Amino acid sequence: MEKSYGNGNLDLAQYVYQTFQPEDPKLKRIKELTMENQIPEIQISPMDGRHIEILTRLTGVKKAVEIGTLAGFSGTCIARGLQPGGQLYTFELEEKNAEIARKAFEVAEVSDRVKVFVGPALEKLPEIEKEGPFDLVFIDADKVNYPAYLEWASHHLRPGGIVMGDNTFAFGDITKSKSDYKTPRQEQITEALKTFNTMLAHSDAFRSTLLPTGEGLTVGVKI
Ligand code: DHB
Ligand code: MG
Repeated sequence: MEKSYGNGNLDLAQYVYQTFQPEDPKLKRIKELTMENQIPEIQISPMDGRHIEILTRLTGVKKAVEIGTLAGFSGTCIARGLQPGGQLYTFELEEKNAEIARKAFEVAEVSDRVKVFVGPALEKLPEIEKEGPFDLVFIDADKVNYPAYLEWASHHLRPGGIVMGDNTFAFGDITKSKSDYKTPRQEQITEALKTFNTMLAHSDAFRSTLLPTGEGLTVGVKI
């Protein structure tokens, strides 16, 4: 299943996808690895992968951090956008996913520039702080911790560095309010993502926008 692009106009989405062909055989193989190993197929869409690679290239990233590796699909896109000699530090909660991600980085021929860390990201991130400041932080892990991950990014990005958060439309719930929530989980996730967006929208430390990808991609540049 492909996530929709932009404003939900299927013709435009198909036009962009067919013209730019964002899913090459290596990314296709990584998706197969994800399926074969029963990892949930919640990775970013190929078009979003291209967006992330381009944003990485535009920023001239040498040192990137990813929070939420899953099976290595988005990490591959970031790794492809790195400057020569660049390095991606990617954090994954589950060892099972990390193992597949390491395979994925081999498939994509980027393992020389990717280091995978396993465990809760907020506990593991201090291990790389001495390598900072970083040029890019991509957040795509547990949604309730997005504000905490942003706090970490604000301390460890260089001026001009970028923070990106996936799923910032909260799976379509971002415009809902307290009385609309059906489960406590939905409320926690949506409120955390609202906090994340609001923090970036009003921060003195970042200039930000929310790019209208299918899932919503909030991007902030550190001032
Ligand atoms: C989920 C998480 C994601 O990061 C995503 O892009 C889509 C779905 C999820 O937890 O269901
Ligand atoms: Mg996501």
